[in-house]
Amino acid sequence: MFPNATILKHPLIEHKLSILRDRDTPNPLFRETLNELSYLIVYEITRDLALRPVRLQTPLAPCDAQQLAEQVLLVPILRAGLGMVEGILHLIPAAKVGHIGVYRDEQTLQPVEYYCKLPPGAESMRVFLLDPMLATGGSLAYAIARLKEKGIRRITVVSVLAAPEGLQALHAAHPDVHVYTAMLDECLNGQGYILPGLGDCGDRLFGTL
Ligand code: PRP
Ligand code: URA
Repeated sequence: MFPNATILKHPLIEHKLSILRDRDTPNPLFRETLNELSYLIVYEITRDLALRPVRLQTPLAPCDAQQLAEQVLLVPILRAGLGMVEGILHLIPAAKVGHIGVYRDEQTLQPVEYYCKLPPGAESMRVFLLDPMLATGGSLAYAIARLKEKGIRRITVVSVLAAPEGLQALHAAHPDVHVYTAMLDECLNGQGYILPGLGDCGDRLFGTL
């Protein structure tokens, strides 16, 4: 239905998503679970990372092995994307981290930028743009445009929950960017929240409800 999106299917991903959805999950468990879920998602979607051959010595013998050949850059969209970074860094500790600060204006739902810091050389890196919530798609579409402005082309979106409306809008704006998400939810409500969703992700991560 959405050529730009892959919905990941894995029992552990579904289980952890249920913890995030539960309104009784306290902030510390919510944070921990979002990081674990992000780890699982990125493990699933990085099968195509380039490798280079290395010759090394095990304690017993010389050995031909493979190591990551490309520089990975994680770019969380603040604030909620921050909740994914630590989990992914457990998996790819050598990844660099840039930040884009974007919030949705509550009335218009339009993205408003307040921060952008990327490492030098970002244009040659493999970028994973992190935002757990893809609602109208406005924040991600804006962030992708900012990355492209800086010459970055190899962009993959990592999300947790996506609304059909947002996926459609994102595909129209950036058909070249693929989205990986743990679940395609039903729709948006009148305030632009994903249903059934998990509520306001930034607030649940940082206790600002
Ligand atoms: C949330 C969420 C996404 C955005 C998704 O951010 O973290 O970035 O909304 O909505 P969209 O697809 O309609 O743009 P929010 O504006 O609540 O900021 P916060 O993360 O700082 O709380
Ligand atoms: N942002 C959130 O945190 N939750 C939603 O459901 C939509 C946007």
